[in-house]
Amino acid sequence: MSKINIKDLARKVINDLKPYKTARDEYVENGNKMILLDANENPFQTEFNRYPDPNQISLKNSISKIKAISNSKIFLSNGSNEVFSLLMQIFCEPGLDNIIIFPPTFGMYEISAKINGININKIPLNRDFDFDTDIVNIINSFNSKIMFIPYPNNPTGNCFSESHVEMIIKKFNGLVVLDEAYVEFSEDKSFLPRIEKYKNLVITQTFSKAQGMAGIRLGMTFANEEIIEMLNKIRAPYNINSLTQRTALLKLKNQEEVKKEAKIILREKDRLIGHLKEFNFIQKVFPSDANFILIRVDNSSKRYNQLIKMNIVVRNTSNQFGCENTLRITVGLKSENDKLINALKKINEL
Ligand SMILES: Cc1ncc(COP(=O)(O)O)c(C=O)c1O
Repeated sequence: MSKINIKDLARKVINDLKPYKTARDEYVENGNKMILLDANENPFQTEFNRYPDPNQISLKNSISKIKAISNSKIFLSNGSNEVFSLLMQIFCEPGLDNIIIFPPTFGMYEISAKINGININKIPLNRDFDFDTDIVNIINSFNSKIMFIPYPNNPTGNCFSESHVEMIIKKFNGLVVLDEAYVEFSEDKSFLPRIEKYKNLVITQTFSKAQGMAGIRLGMTFANEEIIEMLNKIRAPYNINSLTQRTALLKLKNQEEVKKEAKIILREKDRLIGHLKEFNFIQKVFPSDANFILIRVDNSSKRYNQLIKMNIVVRNTSNQFGCENTLRITVGLKSENDKLINALKKINEL
């Protein structure tokens, strides 16, 4: 068990904050049909004339069952992106505190830090996009409050070694945010069962990837109660709208479909990787635990533009640290992947 005191880690202003109470926070359904005259809503009934459940109880109950974690350890946000910023607001004093990121990494950590006036320490990954072996010796050198680890990593697609990540969580004197946005594509690697063991571990997952619900903007955060309470303190009231809550609840009832789709996507990924290795201008296909593949090509701008001309959009990741001449390809439907393979064949023959 980590010795970190979460309250000491948080900003004083947050510890002292008395949060806004929404009108519905005090209302506990007791089986009676209540007359709701508390929130200045329009009383004429439509599907949406009432505010949504501010605490998203039904949705959290459902997530709690699926993830085998109690409601009190779950926080919901407007996509994972929102919670990165909320965590910084809780733990990092603008202008004073700093976070750690490990480039190449997901771009939003740096952007959120900049928006919040928080300093950034970058510890680069090695040439294999893994942590250096001495990583645990340096993570406490900057007095950092939070570190962000996408697991699997984006844009590279690989998971870091499990024992390395666990060692980092054990040794780091701040919060470790393990961003498991792509976890359904490498389910056995999730750190969720370790939430009970490490007080400084925060896990984020999302409805945007394997769940197929990027449009509803819903992110899930799992952490100990102290951190969840702080997140609840500073979030906007009614932060998850009714449509999102309802749609997510329906989706959670159909996890078999999600598993089936993830399997198909992984099969398609293997097929794509097989083809990518055949083309001369593709110099390296990086290992992937996610639903995308990073490749190194001879000239990324040229190959990117050739694909655009053939109506195929991939991501040019070349401006990221250590990713010169790389492209990131999302695994699509079989028909889309076939078109990509044909396009790459044509490019190869030019
Ligand atoms: C590692 C990682 N985390 C988070 C996100 C964003 O998640 P959300 O759509 O829930 O904000 C992405 C999206 O690309 C991602 O790659």
